[in-house]
Amino acid sequence: MANNTVISAGNLSKIYKRGSEEVRAVDGVSFEAAAGELVSIIGPSGSGKTTLLNMIGCLDNPTSGSLSVGGRQVFGGHKELSEKELTAVRREMFGYVFQKFYLIPTLTVEENILLPGAFYKAPGAKAARDVMGLLGIEKRSGHLPGELSGGEMQRVAIARALINGPKVVLADEPTGSLDSRRTEEIKGILRDLTRQGITVVMVTHNLDLARSADRILEIRDGKIHTP
Ligand SMILES: Nc1ncnc2c1ncn2[C@@H]1O[C@H](COP(=O)(O)OP(=O)(O)OP(=O)(O)O)[C@@H](O)[C@H]1O
Ligand SMILES: [Mg+2]
Repeated sequence: MANNTVISAGNLSKIYKRGSEEVRAVDGVSFEAAAGELVSIIGPSGSGKTTLLNMIGCLDNPTSGSLSVGGRQVFGGHKELSEKELTAVRREMFGYVFQKFYLIPTLTVEENILLPGAFYKAPGAKAARDVMGLLGIEKRSGHLPGELSGGEMQRVAIARALINGPKVVLADEPTGSLDSRRTEEIKGILRDLTRQGITVVMVTHNLDLARSADRILEIRDGKIHTP
């Protein structure tokens, strides 16, 4: 493992049981991502992309396999991490951008961005201003999500993912509902993050966005497909 490796997944699998039937959602995936690397995950619907991303982000347990994040063994080690330790890994290492944004409609842009910090130590208004500045949404600070365009909501979701200073940003379809101009903007923003040493792993159906990554992982039937 190179010393700038941030994510190291070995033989990760997730098997769901539906009655007597087994669904191998992710089937023996191994990969590493380095600091500042932009990796895209592509593949057909149902191929296991979201399941893989959720396991990498410690939001879902693998059925088998190992995962290290920032040199710390999270899954597959000798000792299982407690829920408290897992929470700390999530909070210290990751920023999550979900496909559906999950902005709270009754909170302003600034309040939505500050939400991930609300559960332990509050990053203050200055931290919120910094990330809003980075994403060009300062003027929307006091607005409600319902008053924003799709591209602005997506940028708020990214700002929220950055508020805790993550080492890794995981994004599931970060441009899912955006037009090509907005998609270009998000592409530039994600690339800028990697210049600050942040690792970005994104799932996308957009081939142009996928190709802007340093590396593409193609998933088929839960496995990495090597052409
Ligand atoms: N909680 C669950 N219980 C049972 N099966 C599940 C569960 N979550 C996902 N699956 C199954 O696992 C497989 C992979 O799902 P996943 O959501 O990872 O696919 P995906 O590649 O993200 O698809 P999409 O591009 O449509 O978002 C699918 O067959 C799905 O039906
Ligand atoms: Mg998915």
